Amino acid sequence: MKFLIPVVVFLLLAGASCTYNKEEELYGLACDTSNVRYSVEVKNILDANCVSCHNASNPGAGLNLRDYNVVKTSALSGCLIGSVKQIAPCVPMPPINKLSSCQIQQLDKWVKSGAPNN
Ligand code: HEC
Repeated sequence: MKFLIPVVVFLLLAGASCTYNKEEELYGLACDTSNVRYSVEVKNILDANCVSCHNASNPGAGLNLRDYNVVKTSALSGCLIGSVKQIAPCVPMPPINKLSSCQIQQLDKWVKSGAPNN
């Protein structure tokens, strides 16, 4: 029965690498959505791409995206994700450009976990 061991090891490795490839295709290796926090990942994305047009003195569409409560309300009931995924009837955001798929996945993950102030 000793000959079975390399066969089993091979099958395990083949299986593992297969799963790995699928994940790589679906999510991109560099995209970490395991721990998306408002105070770090979400805020960085909004600061870099959104708050120039959505701040307290210039709240585009009435949205000050520097304010957690506004972001949360938009996330849970508004077009925050619809806009960055560019899904009608939400207005595509940011207007010129699109977030990377990783940034969209991170926002999506945060919204789906209830948009916590973490
Ligand atoms: C260049 C300026 C600009 C940038 C950058 C920008 N927005 Fe906007 N945003 C606007 C304006 C102007 C409106 C109102 C558009 C309208 O009603 O046609 C708007 C509307 C919205 C709305 C309401 C959409 C709807 O369909 O109700 C959301 C949500 C939003 N923006 C989120 C974002 C997010 C998230 C980002 C960053 C990823 C972003 N915006 C970047 C200018 C901007």
